[in-house]
Amino acid sequence: MDFLEAMNFRHACKIFKEGKKIPKKMLENILEVGRLSPSSFGMEPWELLVIQSQELKEALRPSCWNQVQITSCSDLLVFVTKNRLVQPGSEYVEEMFKRKNMPQEMLDTYVKLYADFLGSKAEGNPSFYKDWAAKQAYIAAGNMMTYAATEGIDSCPIEGFDQKEVEKILGIDGNEKSVALILPFGYRVNEQPSKIRLSLNGICRYL
Ligand SMILES: Cc1cc2nc3c(=O)[nH]c(=O)nc-3n(C[C@H](O)[C@H](O)[C@H](O)COP(=O)(O)O)c2cc1C
Repeated sequence: MDFLEAMNFRHACKIFKEGKKIPKKMLENILEVGRLSPSSFGMEPWELLVIQSQELKEALRPSCWNQVQITSCSDLLVFVTKNRLVQPGSEYVEEMFKRKNMPQEMLDTYVKLYADFLGSKAEGNPSFYKDWAAKQAYIAAGNMMTYAATEGIDSCPIEGFDQKEVEKILGIDGNEKSVALILPFGYRVNEQPSKIRLSLNGICRYL
């Protein structure tokens, strides 16, 4: 499937074929696409939970607006963001920069730039790091959905969930991390509806 075909094939799938599993290698490729996705300063501010347990899917569904995708999918991915770790001054931030094997002076410059840049944005905004990390998780999620579509695999991004409840079920400490997005993958039952979009004229301005 070429890229535009995949973009047209992808839709927010509302119900997946229950019991139809994504082959292991294909799932690993979807995860690999997430891993290779870009992130600001290369911080990779996400973790991915891959929920395959039907029991856990059932437990989560009521906290996710009871959406059928949660239990009918093959694999339920949950993007968790590392809100605490990405804050300036943490060992994690330094380690992430150090991987680039730069001289100490450059490392110090990057660490300071990171702290100044993000620190100023975070001032007076307690949810800044959570939101900043979530924006990046969404980029990875977008790549994964489009890649999956090229392989004929369906998905549905889900923000219709009660964050606190989902975090409680998954044992996530909301002071450290949070659930940014839930992303089920599987195979469609129904044909997709036709695409509803604004026209290019409606969204683009050539300057
Ligand atoms: C961040 C985000 C959250 C979404 N949350 C849900 C959701 O909770 N449930 C759902 O059925 N669709 C959800 N959607 C799907 C959108 O409603 C859908 O992408 C949009 O209506 C366009 O339709 P299409 O993706 O089928 O082309 C979400 C989409 C995005 C990008």
